Amino acid sequence: MERPHKPDGSGSAGGLRLSESEATAQAFYDRWIGGTGLRSRLGRTVFSLSGTVYSGPFIQAAALRPEDRVMEIGSGLGEILTASQRRIGAEQPYFGIDLSYQMVRRARRGLESRRPSLHFLVASALQMPFRRQCFDVVLLSHVVKYLTDPQLRQVLAQVKELLRPGGRLILWEFRPYAWGAINRIILRGSGSHKLRSAPELVSLLQEQGYRNLQPFRIHTPWPPFRNLAYRAQAG
Ligand SMILES: C[S@@+](CC[C@H](N)C(=O)[O-])C[C@H]1O[C@@H](n2cnc3c(N)ncnc32)[C@H](O)[C@@H]1O
Repeated sequence: MERPHKPDGSGSAGGLRLSESEATAQAFYDRWIGGTGLRSRLGRTVFSLSGTVYSGPFIQAAALRPEDRVMEIGSGLGEILTASQRRIGAEQPYFGIDLSYQMVRRARRGLESRRPSLHFLVASALQMPFRRQCFDVVLLSHVVKYLTDPQLRQVLAQVKELLRPGGRLILWEFRPYAWGAINRIILRGSGSHKLRSAPELVSLLQEQGYRNLQPFRIHTPWPPFRNLAYRAQAG
C-alpha cells in the first residue's frame, strides 16, 4: 500500500506556518484542553464524548465500509475516528490532523492498542500532508467555522484532490441563530470566523464541484447547539 502521508516532515510539529486565526485557534485549544482546571476537565469530557455521539451518524452518512480509508480534519481528541474504526471493523489505517498539540498528544494516547491503526498529526487544514487520491472519506466535524470563505474554498479544493473516485466528504457545523448573541457566544475567543447558513454552505460546496449533496441530521446533545450536516461526492 502506498503511504498516504508524505514523508517530508510537513504536518509535523516543527513545520507549521499558520494564519493568524489558526494560531489563535491553536493557542485556544492548547490552553483549554491542556489545562488542569475545571474548565479544561469539562472540555476534555465534552470532546471525549464525540465518538459516542457522532460516530453512528458519521458511519451512516458516509456509508462507511471496512475497506475505506478515512481522514478527519480537525480531529480533536480523535474519538470519532477511534469509535468509527472499531464499530466498522476497519481494515485500513485512519488519519486525523489537528492544529492543537494538546489535542494530538491526547489523541495519540493508547494508540498502540488500537487496530488496524490510527495516526494523529499536528497539521493545518490549509497545508495537508497527504498524497493525491489517498482517501475514500474525509470528515470535517465542527471545523468549518474556523475557516474564512477563501480558506474554506482552499480546503474543499484540496479535499477533492485527496479523495479517490467515489470518495465522500462528510461535514457538519453549528447552524447560525437569528439572534446574534448566541452566535457570538459560540464563536467567542477561539479563532473561529462565522457560522454559515445552509444556502451559504451548499453554494461553497457546489462552487468547488461537489455533487450529490445530501443533508442529514446530526444532533449535538448540549443546548443551544444545532447542526447543519452534508454528505457530498467529489467529482
Ligand atoms: C470544535 S473542535 C472539534 C474536534 C472534533 N472534530 C470533534 O468533533 O470532536 C475543532 C478542532 O479543529 C481544530 N482546527 C481548527 N482549525 C483548524 C485548521 N485550520 N486545521 C486543523 N485543525 C483545525 C481545532 O484545533 C480543534 O481541535
